[in-house]
Amino acid sequence: MIIMAVESSCDETAVALVEDGRKILTDCIASQVELHKLYGGVVPEIASRKHVEAISGLAEQAIQNAGISKKEIDAVAVTYAPGLIGAVLVGVSFAKATALALQKPLIPVHHIRGHIAANYLAYPELEPPFLCLMISGGHTMLIDVKDYTKMEIMGTTLDDAAGECFDKVARVLGMPYPGGKALDAMAALGDAKKYALPRSKPGANPLDMSFSGLKTAAINLIHNARQKGEEIDVPSLCASFAAAASDNLVPRTMEALKRTGYRKLAVAGGVAANSRIRRDILQAAAKLNTEVFMPPLSLCGDNGAMIGAQGYYEYLAGNVADQTLNAYATKSILGERL
Ligand code: KG4
Ligand code: ZN
Repeated sequence: MIIMAVESSCDETAVALVEDGRKILTDCIASQVELHKLYGGVVPEIASRKHVEAISGLAEQAIQNAGISKKEIDAVAVTYAPGLIGAVLVGVSFAKATALALQKPLIPVHHIRGHIAANYLAYPELEPPFLCLMISGGHTMLIDVKDYTKMEIMGTTLDDAAGECFDKVARVLGMPYPGGKALDAMAALGDAKKYALPRSKPGANPLDMSFSGLKTAAINLIHNARQKGEEIDVPSLCASFAAAASDNLVPRTMEALKRTGYRKLAVAGGVAANSRIRRDILQAAAKLNTEVFMPPLSLCGDNGAMIGAQGYYEYLAGNVADQTLNAYATKSILGERL
């Protein structure tokens, strides 16, 4: 089954063609990052307009790249939530029109489920159940993936998402948006023990996480040093920050693994590209004899292929929509029938 998958929830317009949920025929992405860099973050109105400009051309390009005809497309999958509402609407409208024109099923896909499914593309042998640590610019969660379309949230951030925290600190350090990657590169040159930054304390649910305290502490440290005219060792601050962020995530992930009894851990979302977090996860998981699945960096960020992968399993589970499908800025990953 060949699925055309559309993703437009933030600042990447993406159209992919995926076969049977596991094989990428093509994965076309038009990134708007350079444009939003000018403003230090995503400007929703600009994002929506750029999606409108890019989406039809990308779909044509995807069909050409894959060397298939439109008739060979069996279904159209689309991110319908969560995301910037105007941006998500562009993808949903395009997917609805395409499904209608081709007379094929329309499959709504939750963006976070898509991030999890990036692992199915990278690891053909991976099947649920497994634990997923989902870490992106907008979401931070520990998810018990019981089945392809059945999940339970074991823990979530109580405030900021991990990626948001990376990006804010990077911005204060003068790094261009989205600064997580630049902060990661800088951290490689520093001493992670140089600056003492707080680790969040366990709350009522010990698997819940928190990043705002860490973010505020790091930003205050930078401002205080600047006010006193003291020089900051930027690489070491980045390394200390990444270590603290990782300490907020990794022990909780291991606790969740112990609770589920699973020996499989998948990592998903843009922050999964972080080298400190990757290293710490591999070390900690090895102690629990747990196999770790981390998609290549190209599949960690937003892309269309992951939506096509999850779309396949949503289709098999009967989760298809009609032309009344709407876009949603927020929606639980648990999903309800539409
Ligand atoms: O999943 P994603 O592409 O978009 C969504 O938020 O859905 O994640 C983007 C986030 C940004 O916050 C970006 O700074 C962060 O992933 N990121 C990183 C790294 N690469 C991307 N954060 C830390 N270290 C990295 N190497
Ligand atoms: Zn994402």
